[in-house]
Amino acid sequence: MDFSGVSILVAFFLLIYGDNYEVKSMRKYITWDDIKIQNDNYRDHKKLGQRLGSGNVDDNDGSTTYRVIVVDQNGRGDSLTVQGAVDMVPLNNSIRVKIYILPGFYREKVIVPASKPYISFIGDPNSPSATVISWNDKASNRYKDGTELGTYRTASVTIESDYFCASGITIENTVVAILGGYKMQAVALKIAGDKAVLYRVRILGTQDTLFDESGSHYLYQCYIQGSVDFIFGNSRSLYKECRLHSVADRYGAIAAHHRNSEQEDTGFSFVNCSVTGNEGAIYLGRAWGNYSRVVYSYCDIDNIIDPSGWSDWNQPWRQRTAMFGEYKCRGKGADRRNRVSWSKSLGFVEATPFLDKHFIDGEDWLRL
Ligand SMILES: *[C@@H]1O[C@H](CO)[C@@H](O)[C@H](O)[C@H]1NC(C)=O
Ligand SMILES: *[C@@H]1O[C@H](CO)[C@@H](O)[C@H](O)[C@H]1NC(C)=O
Ligand SMILES: *[C@@H]1O[C@H](CO)[C@@H](O)[C@H](O)[C@H]1NC(C)=O
Repeated sequence: MDFSGVSILVAFFLLIYGDNYEVKSMRKYITWDDIKIQNDNYRDHKKLGQRLGSGNVDDNDGSTTYRVIVVDQNGRGDSLTVQGAVDMVPLNNSIRVKIYILPGFYREKVIVPASKPYISFIGDPNSPSATVISWNDKASNRYKDGTELGTYRTASVTIESDYFCASGITIENTVVAILGGYKMQAVALKIAGDKAVLYRVRILGTQDTLFDESGSHYLYQCYIQGSVDFIFGNSRSLYKECRLHSVADRYGAIAAHHRNSEQEDTGFSFVNCSVTGNEGAIYLGRAWGNYSRVVYSYCDIDNIIDPSGWSDWNQPWRQRTAMFGEYKCRGKGADRRNRVSWSKSLGFVEATPFLDKHFIDGEDWLRL
């Protein structure tokens, strides 16, 4: 069903249940406008007195309302903290809320709950380092009752809602994992909502930096830094023109994808990315699940890759079912001569499904 079909259905239900306001605004797609602050007033600190701004974007299918919430540590916005701004968004939110985060170092742990879709975190796409959300939980940390946090709850920023966007910010977990250290996993960002766009976002950590857990996601011109399994999870994500930067000392891995069966339509596709980093020899990917799926296409790969390229996670049967492919990559790290035999050098036909937005059904929900 296309968008207009959905609209008609929604309109029909609303005719019965009555709430006209929601019809116009429950968009099922993301546009560039959703990750931008158009009104320059918000960039001008003196005018921040306007507070809680809103505006209209002219869509093809009528006007869509959005709200702006300004986060400023210096007290001239609507909230001093990012979480404070998220808390201001109503439950079951149905219009785009642009949380404009002014430059600063925000030392806090942020959670966007599933009940708050359509939220954008917006900094300056030309200086994402100026706006930093930073925390430092690791898997071995304990709650007051003595139980360990575990990897999944360490994220500095956790996104559980759909249609999330972020641009021009840095999200970090400052724990530095030491090889052989006890439970040093420390997630910077976890994305568990469906349909997210990240543009020029920097995601920094060491072990388990980006937990790309579930849903379909588009990461464009992002910078992701880590050492071991620093992009992991079971989402279906397209990483385009991103830089994947290893800080591993001796060994590590970029992608650990967790697909468990052939039926799961998930995978990580890296297109036109650059892979850089320290001397250590890392894997392009490790088979976390039996059907782990990772493809690198048109990537520039520095000489930091273990020549074997890929790991079966010491579960040899995964060699038969994991799908690890490379297509037209460049650089010393792209030399496939000593790759494990069960990884694939893809041809054009095999690579095509991974090369663009169709991989994440972007034709349905991305209007960029
Ligand atoms: C939000 O939606 C849920 C599920 O439809 C509903 O149970 C709940 O009452 C709603 N809450 C508010 C504040 O609208
Ligand atoms: C790859 O990305 C660069 C910018 O980072 C761009 O100039 C180039 O056109 C892209 N190439 C392809 C094949 O998409
Ligand atoms: C992975 O494959 C092995 C060997 O076939 C099997 O024993 C195991 O149950 C599978 N794991 C999952 C999660 O399906």
